[in-house]
Amino acid sequence: AAAVRAYHEKVLDHYNKPRNVGSLPKNDPNVGTGLVGAPACGDVMKLQILVDDATGEIKEVKFKTFGCGSAIASSSFATEKIKGMTVWDAAKVKNTDIAKELSLPPVKLHCSMLAEDAIKSAVRDWEAKRAARQAAAGAAA
Ligand code: FES
Ligand code: FES
Repeated sequence: AAAVRAYHEKVLDHYNKPRNVGSLPKNDPNVGTGLVGAPACGDVMKLQILVDDATGEIKEVKFKTFGCGSAIASSSFATEKIKGMTVWDAAKVKNTDIAKELSLPPVKLHCSMLAEDAIKSAVRDWEAKRAARQAAAGAAA
């Protein structure tokens, strides 16, 4: 119980009731998928965004995390934070912001790093898909 008390209640809330758990269709042209692992512990996080092609706004976010409570809480919190942002703003979200909001202890900083990496990776995937679409459209024109 002492260990549990050391955690901020916001972590426990996101851990007990994770938001936006699930998957989006990976092959949807407007979905970016990020899959990252934490070298420190081997935990894995998948985060997906559905993006409005015209505005870059993130309409939907889903995640699945095979990891510790802090990683689950970080990803749950991150999905709520980036929903409604543009992909470019979302890519600037820092793990230290997430860790601060959740009051993660220093030893758990890499768990929030996983969330930052997953967001960046999802944005990169969406951008790569979009670039390929634009190249295809250019080639067809
Ligand atoms: Fe990853 Fe704890 S080390 S679950
Ligand atoms: Fe590895 Fe949290 S202990 S992600």
